[in-house]
Amino acid sequence: MAKRDLLGMLDLKDDLNEIIDLGIKLKTRSKSGKKVEYAKGKNLLMIFEKPSTRTRVSFEVGMSRLGGHAVFLSPKDIQMGRGESIEDTAKVISRYGDIIMYRAFKWQDMEELAKHSQVPVINGLDNREHPCQIVTDLMAIKEHKGKLKGLSFAYFGDGNNNMAHSYLLGCAIVGMNVKIVSPVKYQPDAYFVEKAKEIGKKTGAKVEVTDKVAGAAKGMDILATDTWVSMGDEAEKAVRVQEFQGYTIDGKVMKEANKGALFIHCLPAYYGYEVTKEVAHGPQSIIFDEAENRMWAQMAIMMKLLGCKFKA
Ligand code: CP
Ligand code: NVA
Repeated sequence: MAKRDLLGMLDLKDDLNEIIDLGIKLKTRSKSGKKVEYAKGKNLLMIFEKPSTRTRVSFEVGMSRLGGHAVFLSPKDIQMGRGESIEDTAKVISRYGDIIMYRAFKWQDMEELAKHSQVPVINGLDNREHPCQIVTDLMAIKEHKGKLKGLSFAYFGDGNNNMAHSYLLGCAIVGMNVKIVSPVKYQPDAYFVEKAKEIGKKTGAKVEVTDKVAGAAKGMDILATDTWVSMGDEAEKAVRVQEFQGYTIDGKVMKEANKGALFIHCLPAYYGYEVTKEVAHGPQSIIFDEAENRMWAQMAIMMKLLGCKFKA
């Protein structure tokens, strides 16, 4: 059977709901004190070109809970950092491990690694998408709201980053209305908007992109944001902070949303910029449930790609 990668949300278009439910089952079972060693003896290899707290720890601990083992590889320490090609790296390391997780600067490098790897490759964030985070976020929303289809979701801030692109596709796949609220200069890549609209036609999800903040939160069940300065954008920080003025999610914006609306953020957060601390640590925020779910959702993803079965 051909190996299956998770490079972007479109790779999950047929079984996203199933993976979210598997994440919830793993979490419930594990919290009831039962073992979840469904990937015994499997080895996960993780390459990080950028820093990480959540992705690194949640993949490593998640694989250990599944009964497997994880190896952390920093380009500073492996030959890739000195110029060994991604092709050769993929051909070599995929002979050692069963699955690879890669956090990359460029999506082209992600595709190159996947192309030459014999084993499944998971995108642990690149400049276009962050699929693991979206599976996680949808899992947290489902736990809190009991459903996904028919809810309305708005993301404020940098619409042209990995999170916004993956939200567009992920929400559309599960039939959730998705609105991106961004300055014109930072609106999403048209490819993701078109794909989301195409999927939305089948699932019933409405897809909207706007630069109008006033009234944007009205009727929303979930408000989300992300840093205005993604990894790799640091040189533009001063300009970005100016250009995103007015897009902060604060208490006033939260009040405009539906009663019981949730606030989500992939973290790390920069309080006073994309969100106030009052909102992020307030009663409507589920940011730490979200962070926890990285582990359960990624365990579900790894099981799916490795073909491991859940047994009750
Ligand atoms: N949300 C997320 O991917 O966090 P890290 O950068 O800490 O992995
Ligand atoms: N958009 C952010 C997400 C961090 C998890 C970044 O790429 O830095």
